[in-house]
Amino acid sequence: MPAYPATRMRRLRQAGWTRRLVRQHVLTPDDLVWAVIISDQDAPEPVAAMPGVNRLTLDTLRDAAIEARDLGIPAMALFPHIDPARKDAAGSEALNPDGLIPQAIKVIKAAAPEIGVICDVALDPFTTHGHDGVMKGGVILNDATVDALVEQALVQARAGCDVIAPSDMMDGRIGAIRMALEENGFTDTLILSYAAKYASGFYGPYREAIGSAAALTGDKKTYQMDPANSDECLREVELDLEEGADMVMVKPGLPYLDIVKSVSETFGVPTLAFQVSGEYAMIEAAAANGWIDGERVMLESLLAFKRAGASGVVTYFAPRAARLLNQG
Ligand code: PBG
Repeated sequence: MPAYPATRMRRLRQAGWTRRLVRQHVLTPDDLVWAVIISDQDAPEPVAAMPGVNRLTLDTLRDAAIEARDLGIPAMALFPHIDPARKDAAGSEALNPDGLIPQAIKVIKAAAPEIGVICDVALDPFTTHGHDGVMKGGVILNDATVDALVEQALVQARAGCDVIAPSDMMDGRIGAIRMALEENGFTDTLILSYAAKYASGFYGPYREAIGSAAALTGDKKTYQMDPANSDECLREVELDLEEGADMVMVKPGLPYLDIVKSVSETFGVPTLAFQVSGEYAMIEAAAANGWIDGERVMLESLLAFKRAGASGVVTYFAPRAARLLNQG
C-alpha cells in the first residue's frame, strides 16, 4: 500500500490553465433567451417580486432588442401584461391581430431583425380567471382551448413571430398548431413546446408580473404536471415531438434539473430550460440581503443547466449574465 494516493484529483485543479483545459461545459451568451415582460403602459413599471425586472413598454422593448443583439443574446421570449379592461372569460384579446404581442413582435423585428422572437401561447394573461384555457363550470376545456390556441398561434405567426411556444399544457395542441401553421404557409415557423411544465409554486412572481395573480381562481393542477412525477415527462415530450415540436422546454428549471437531464439524454433534441420567476426572485432576495454573491450564483445556476444537458436557458438574467460573460 503506498502511503500516499497515486491518483490525486487535485493535480488538475492547481492552475488556471489546467482548469481551463479540462473544463467540460461552458456558458456563453448563445445559450441565453431573454424573458421579458411587456405592457401597453406609457412608462416601464417595476415588478415588486422581481427586483431588476421592469414591465417594458414598446419603446423600451425596442432598446432591449438592440441591447440583446449587441450582447450576443440569440432570442427574446415575450410575456404580456394585459390591461384588466381588455380581459374576458374567453381570453379573446389573445386573438387580437393588433394586440400587444403582435405589436411587440413588429417592434423587435424592426429594431433588431436578427433577434429570434419567441411567443408564449396560452390564454392566462388574457383571461379574467387567470387560467391558461377556456373554462366552463370550473373545468378547463381541453379541445375548446386548443381551438383558441391555434388561432392565437396564427396571430403570432402572421405578426412575424419566429417561435411559437405553447405553455398551456393542453393535450394535442402541438399537432393542431403545427397543422394550422403548415396549412397557412408558415412552414418555417418553429414550435418550442413547453412539454414538461409542472404545477409549480415557483411561478408566483410571474403571476404578479403579468397581473394574473389576483385573478387566478384555484390552481393549475388539472393541466400542469404533478411535481411528484418524473416518468410522465418522457411521455409528454414524446407526444409533442411526434406532433411536430422542434424544441422542447422543461419548466421550472433548477429544481427540475433531473427532468432536463433525462429529456435531453432520452431524445437528443434541443431542450431548453426555463429559470422561472421564483428562481430569479430567490437569488435576488438572498443577494440583496448579502447572503450570497448574486452575480456568482447567477452564473453558476445558468451553468448548471448546461451541465444537465440543456441547449439553452430562458432567463430574466439574460442581459446581466451576457454582460458578465462578455467581460470574460
Ligand atoms: C403560463 C405561464 C407561466 C409562466 C410562463 N407562462 C406561469 C403559469 O403557468 O402560471 C411562468 C414564468 C415564470 O414564472 O417566470 N402560461
